[in-house]
Amino acid sequence: QSKARITAIGSYVPERILSNADLERMVDTSDEWIVQRTGIRERRIAPPDVFTSDLCVKAVQNMVEQFQVSIADVDMILVATTTPDFPFPSVACLVQERLGIPSAGALDISAACAGFVYALNLANGLITSGLHRKVLVIGGETLSKVTDYSDRTTCILFGDGAGAALVEKDEHQPSFLHSVSGSDGRAGIHLYRTGISDRLNGVCLSGEGNIVQNGREVFKLAVSTLNREIPKLMQEAGMSLDELDWFVPHSANIRIIQAVCERIGFPMEKTLFSAEYYGNTSSATIPLALHLGLREGKLKKGNTVLLHGFGGGFVHSASLITW
Ligand code: ACO
Repeated sequence: QSKARITAIGSYVPERILSNADLERMVDTSDEWIVQRTGIRERRIAPPDVFTSDLCVKAVQNMVEQFQVSIADVDMILVATTTPDFPFPSVACLVQERLGIPSAGALDISAACAGFVYALNLANGLITSGLHRKVLVIGGETLSKVTDYSDRTTCILFGDGAGAALVEKDEHQPSFLHSVSGSDGRAGIHLYRTGISDRLNGVCLSGEGNIVQNGREVFKLAVSTLNREIPKLMQEAGMSLDELDWFVPHSANIRIIQAVCERIGFPMEKTLFSAEYYGNTSSATIPLALHLGLREGKLKKGNTVLLHGFGGGFVHSASLITW
């Protein structure tokens, strides 16, 4: 059986910063409220004519530059996003054309903030099954384009960004130790964005294409899901939490991460997150956190790392890896 390794990672965020002070001038809020409730200080916002595919291409270019890897022979591109440039063609197809990767398969994945981890686990499956050899995995979002900047309960949270990883066939040093994914469609109503239908779980929706959430329910769901899934996953893997070097949960907000760490009994200092200066970038938070951890010298070769994505759907996906 083939095995797979994550061989490179890259990221990109737009230049423009939207700070808490800027938001104070836009809605009735304060830096103190936002920092206390979410831990977020800044987010990055793409210009009006820059879309998710543009951020994804830059994240891949950053990865290629830093790791000196070749992407010419990539045979599958998976892009996790909730804010594709178009319903179709997919962002994966746009990226394939822009990067000039000849004839790779190309597919977008809709799993909200869990999308990047879902895509990584799928890449591992595609390689271990022998179907593919080199998979480009991207999580990219321009959430600013679907955020209502008059709604103070959501506009303080979201930002734009992209992260990319290369997953390659490697028999000698495989990255993937264990993975678990799941969903609970009953909870979809607590976090959504309208599309061509305006009914969900039998309820008429509002929001007109922007993100709508019941913050308290999302908070509770996130904490209870991670509190249930993480100890279970570690037990299945035959490992204890003490053996983890880093826990990288989806950076929805830092208060959720603190609440989860308290419940499962894991030190907050051993978490990597990207929300403080990038906000919640949905499918991009985990690769952004990994890349930050790498640049800050925290994440080292051989580290045992637990990635855990959760988000609208409700969906979750975890991957226990060796870096
Ligand atoms: N500034 C000031 N006051 C605010 C703001 C704001 N930006 N937003 C809401 N408030 C007010 C509310 O109106 C309310 O006032 P009231 O008591 O007079 O009615 C008060 O603050 C408390 O509101 P709550 O919604 O109860 O505040 P809570 O402590 O739950 O914090 C928050 C809200 C930060 C959204 C929290 O529920 C949360 O973190 N939820 C998780 C949401 C999340 O992370 N979503 C990301 C998408 S999900 C994902 O990525 C998986």
